[in-house]
Amino acid sequence: MDIIKAMYERHSVRRYTDEPLREEHIESLNKAIDDVNNESGLRFTLVTNEPEAFSGKMASYSHFSGCTDYIVAVGSKGKDEEVGYYGEKLVLIAQSLGINSCWVALTYSKNKVKPEIKKGEKFYIVISLGYGIHQGRPHKNKPLTELCSCEGEMPQWFKNAMDAVLTAPTAMNQQKFHFELKGENVKAKALFGPYSKMDLGIAKYHFEAGAKEHKFNWA
Ligand SMILES: Cc1cc2nc3c(=O)[nH]c(=O)nc-3n(C[C@H](O)[C@H](O)[C@H](O)COP(=O)(O)O)c2cc1C
Repeated sequence: MDIIKAMYERHSVRRYTDEPLREEHIESLNKAIDDVNNESGLRFTLVTNEPEAFSGKMASYSHFSGCTDYIVAVGSKGKDEEVGYYGEKLVLIAQSLGINSCWVALTYSKNKVKPEIKKGEKFYIVISLGYGIHQGRPHKNKPLTELCSCEGEMPQWFKNAMDAVLTAPTAMNQQKFHFELKGENVKAKALFGPYSKMDLGIAKYHFEAGAKEHKFNWA
C-alpha cells in the first residue's frame, strides 16, 4: 500500500453509491481490523449491510446518503489518541482499496448503533465506508506556522511530515494540535477542542508516514 498516495487522495465522502462492499474488500478490511485490534488492544468492528445508522435526521443533516457499511470503535476509556491513530490506519487501508470513508462522531443515529461495551470500555466513534459517488475535495488548512515550530531552519523531513499532517481529517476541520521539533525529539500535543485527542492520534499517524525512514523520537 502507498500510504502517502492514500493520504493525499483521501477526503471525507458522505454520499455513496448503492453498491455493497465487495466480498474481497470485506475480507481485506476484516484482516486489517484483526491486525490493528491485536496490536492496539482496541476493538474495531466492521458492520456491513446495515442501512439504519445513516438513515436518520442527523445523517441527512450532514448530507450522508447510501451508507450501509461502517466501522465502530470500542476500547478502554482514555484511549482517544490510540483510536485516532489506529482508526486512521484503517481509513488509509480502505482508501488504498478504493473505499471512501468519513470519521463520524455525531451525525449518525446513535440509537441504532449499539455495540457490546464491556466494563471499563467506551464506544468512541463510527467510520462510514463505501464507494463514493465522488472522491471529496481537499479541506482548508491553517498556516503551517500555526501548527508547528522548530529550532532554526525547518529540516526537509519535518516539512514532509507536516505536509502529511495537513492532509489529516480532524473534527470540524479544527486542526487543534501543535507539533514542536527540538533536536530529534517531536512533541505533539492536542489543543482544546472537541475530539482533539482523537484528531492528534490521526495526525501522528500521518506525521510518522510523512517522515518516512527518518528516525525521530516522540517526546
Ligand atoms: C474525530 C472526527 C469526528 C468527525 N465527526 C464528524 C461528524 O460527526 N459528521 C461529519 O459529517 N463529519 C465528521 N468528521 C469529518 C470532518 O468534518 C472532516 O474530516 C473535516 O472537515 C476535514 O475534511 P476531510 O476529511 O475531507 O479532509 C469528523 C472527523 C473527525 C476526525
